Amino acid sequence: MDRIRITGGNKLNGTIPISGAKNAALPLMIAALLTDETLVLENVPRLADVAQLQRILGNHGVDITSVGKRAGDREYQGQTLHISAAHIIDTTAPYELVSRMRASFWVIAPLLARMHEARVSLPGGCAIGTRPVDLLIMALEKLGAEISIDAGYVVAKAPAGLRGATIDFPKVTVSGTHVALMAATLAKGTTVIANAACEPEVADVADCLNKMGARILGAGTPRIVIEGVEKLHCARHTVLPDRIEAGTYAMAVAMTGGDVQLSGARPELLEAALDVLKQAGAEISVNGDGIRVVRNGSGLRPVTVSTAPFPGFPTDLQAQLMALMVCAQGASEITETIFENRFMHVQELARFGARIKLDGETARIDGITRLRGAPVMATDLRASVSLVIAGLVAEGETTVNRVYHLDRGFERLEEKLKACGASIERIRE
Ligand code: EPZ
Repeated sequence: MDRIRITGGNKLNGTIPISGAKNAALPLMIAALLTDETLVLENVPRLADVAQLQRILGNHGVDITSVGKRAGDREYQGQTLHISAAHIIDTTAPYELVSRMRASFWVIAPLLARMHEARVSLPGGCAIGTRPVDLLIMALEKLGAEISIDAGYVVAKAPAGLRGATIDFPKVTVSGTHVALMAATLAKGTTVIANAACEPEVADVADCLNKMGARILGAGTPRIVIEGVEKLHCARHTVLPDRIEAGTYAMAVAMTGGDVQLSGARPELLEAALDVLKQAGAEISVNGDGIRVVRNGSGLRPVTVSTAPFPGFPTDLQAQLMALMVCAQGASEITETIFENRFMHVQELARFGARIKLDGETARIDGITRLRGAPVMATDLRASVSLVIAGLVAEGETTVNRVYHLDRGFERLEEKLKACGASIERIRE
């Protein structure tokens, strides 16, 4: 298994190109199941999760071709995928595939909407809490699906097709909103999703679905209205930039000091995180090419932050912020409100010497002046990258094990950091 070796102490200076968003690319690829015509997705990041979803879609009979760099492309352009679900040969998503990536459960929505049946394995347990699918099932039932659980599989049927309905989510759920949105595009009549997730990735998927002929209004707000259509058609869509990747590198620069341009980042997608970084002492400015993050000399100030659905501070940046606050001059408090148990990084950050106390869903971090490099590992993508951030300032050598977690969600991580002066390399084994 590959490892990443970092020698801490270098400032970051230069430009980091921001890739397409993993959490938009995955549902966009799944949305291709809704039509028998080809969906072309541009700026798709090269990530292990994307490759895994290609295998899962392949199992349903979906043809995917990947086009690499073309003449005139920017150096760091993501791949272009041509996805054709002309012939769906299997409406079952088996345990062996779904258990590896939770988002693959979402295929249930387009399969049910278009083929009127789906049999999808319940996703397995997960390192960041129990993460049930009850609200996804509730949404599909509201749309008229008959759902049963059989030997670990969710079996969904709608012999006469889905019908529009009002779906009022008792809590904000990104997965629930994606599933309801995709299913409702082909349902008969009008669907209203109330208390919908406002995450930019939901709006990006709705934008693509509209290009495919769907009639969706209000995506990106808590109330989405969908007028069902009979058929969707081909379209071309560019995946929006990854706000979590941008926020992660912004935290890394705030940690090491330096001056980095996050090329292609969209500030309006991460205002809450940028505000927190400013409070902590980073200088943030917006320019035509993205976001510039600077920190020189001054110490980091502690912050008090709670995660919240968009536009609040994202749970997917909580671990990275915690790594940063390990070096703040004073005590910080970070409360995780989205997932219970998303604190796997706490015990690993302690290996660097961090002083963090957990009290229920709140972590109290007492800043220290020096981190010491250590061998570390984490079982979650964002937790893993928080260890990289800590390693960038830790004295001596840090080895981050189980790099495959990073490969699930960060495209060319070590290359991007190395280009800005970090001493970081992958050890292949
Ligand atoms: C998405 O997960 C993201 N994944 C997560 O990113 C992200 O952390 C999360 O949204 C919150 O922003 C993708 O987009 C692929 P939810 P999702 O449904 O959709 C509970 C990363 O690191 N819930 O909004 O699974 C759930 O347990 C990942 O890139 C139910 O109770 O999150 C959680 O507490 C990790 N019942 C809360 O809602 C349900 O049926 C929010 O979950 C569904 C969810």
